[in-house]
This record gives sequence, C-alpha cells and structure tokens, in this order.
Amino acid sequence: MDLTAANHRIPLSDGNSIPIIGLGTYSEPKLTSKGSCKTSVKMAIDVGYQHIDGAYIYRNEDEVGEAIREKIAEGRVKREDIFYCGKLWATHFEPERVRPYLEKTLKTLQLDYVDLYIIEMPMAFKPGDEFYPKDKYGNWLYHNSNLCATWEVECHPYFTQRKLLEFCQQHDIVIVAYSPLGTARNPLWVNVSFPPLLNDELLNSLGEKYNKTAAQVALRFNIQRGIVVIPKSFNPKRIKENFQVFDFSLTEEEMKSIEALNKDVRLVDLLLWSDHPEYPFYDEY
Ligand code: A2P
Repeated sequence: MDLTAANHRIPLSDGNSIPIIGLGTYSEPKLTSKGSCKTSVKMAIDVGYQHIDGAYIYRNEDEVGEAIREKIAEGRVKREDIFYCGKLWATHFEPERVRPYLEKTLKTLQLDYVDLYIIEMPMAFKPGDEFYPKDKYGNWLYHNSNLCATWEVECHPYFTQRKLLEFCQQHDIVIVAYSPLGTARNPLWVNVSFPPLLNDELLNSLGEKYNKTAAQVALRFNIQRGIVVIPKSFNPKRIKENFQVFDFSLTEEEMKSIEALNKDVRLVDLLLWSDHPEYPFYDEY
C-alpha cells in the first residue's frame, strides 16, 4: 500500500473509500473549552486530514459541522473530500429510533449526509432521551440488544487484534482503530493499570531512529497493517504531528517487534458497565 499525505484512502468493496487517518473529536465536555473542537477540526482539514470521527453524544457535533461547512465555504475542500463518521448512542438501538437519531446528527452538523454511521458501543441502555439513564437508586437502566457483530474495534501496539485483523482481511473488511494512542486515560472507563502506551521504550527508540515521536510510530504501525486510525487531539502541534506519518516506514522486523508488544490489554474496558448482561469484553475476538 503506497499511501501519501495527499492520497491515503483505502478502497471499500462498495466503491467508496475511507481515509486511513481521521481526527478523533471526543473530549470530556466539562474539561473542554467551547470552540476548541471547531478550531481543531478546521486546523486538521488545513493540515490535510480528510476524515473526521465524531458523535452526537460528544456534545460538540455542532462545532464539527460548522468547521466542515466553513472549510467548504472557503473553497478549501468540497463535501465529497471529507469523510465524516457519526455514531448511534446506546439509548437508540431500537430499529425505529435509528433514523430519527441519525437525523439529529445531520441537523446538528447541518450537513446532508454522513459517510459512515456506526454503533457507539455494544451494550444498550433504556431507550429514551436520557444519555445515561439510571433508576432512582442510581442503578444503570440497561436494555437487551444483539449488536456485538457491529461493534467497532480498539487497536494499538498493546492490543494488536491479530486474530480479528486476519479474519477481517480474509473477508475484505476494513478495521477502524479507536484509541490508537492509548486514550486520554480517564479511569472511569479506561484500564489505567498499565503504564501509558506512549511511554513505551520500543516505540520511543524507534521514534528516535526515524526522528518521530512514539505516537507517530504507534499510528504508522496500524497504518502499515491497513488499519484506519482516528487519533484524537485538540492540540495544534499534535494534530499536525499525528498526520506526519506518511513520510517514513517501519521495516518488517520493526513491525514484528511492535506486534510483540501486544499484551492483549483492552484499555477501554468500560468496567463501570461490566454488570450489563451483554457486557462483551470478557469474550475473545
Ligand atoms: P490532546 O488532545 O491534548 O492532544 P486516543 O486517540 O488514543 O484516544 O488518544 C487521545 C489522547 O492522546 C488525548 O489525551 C490527546 O490529547 C493525546 N494525544 C493526541 N496526540 C498525541 C501525540 N501526538 N502525543 C501525545 N499525546 C497525544
């Protein structure tokens, strides 16, 4: 695969294509200043990102839409140059709720379509407008569903997903790796018992060799395996840094040594919902 900053789309079997790197836009709303999402998306488009990953539940989808629309108005890009992925939240898995929820996203973005619409997580909550429904005793209000097959995939050097990748490659399925840098480590929903991925000695020493950072090496590792990555950053320097992954490549031996870092550790383990009857993360994928 000969990917460049200008041309880094993976063809899909329906004739569409997906850019192999996207900007993640989830940021804890309480800790994020208004407008920083919009500024980051605009900057990412200027840097050359063609893929933006967002969701209605991130509470900044309006800013994402504004940024994309402003860049289109400036003539910097056309709508068809941008690949936007939106997400269906756990309170809207009932078939009749899907379309109205997607329409909310479109209305919030003020765009006519999304390029991809995926299920946010594989456990349903009580249907309704409450994002995180609980009963009067503070217990989560769960709901039954059957969505494991359509769940998106965490993937990084500590969780390389070899088996799933082999299966997907055999069946021409493209994987999108969320948390490709090891997440922002919010202990509420992340397993923080391991040291941060980006402190890894091997990733840092390979970074030194190529004059790159550990983050760039981690992203390049997935890209070289044909896996789409959606690193989140609202920091201008890091947004640029994360896109500068098309001007170096890792040798086969280096790829193997990174693969050997695999610890089968799922960082986004969502343990706060582990008593959900459909909690999926004890199963092998
Ligand atoms: P920030 O937005 O301040 O850059 P993931 O995509 O795996 O969920 O990781 C996102 C986290 O990693 C965020 O906290 C983000 O913070 C941080 N981050 C993004 N890019 C880099 C980078 N190049 N180096 C170090 N940390 C990064």
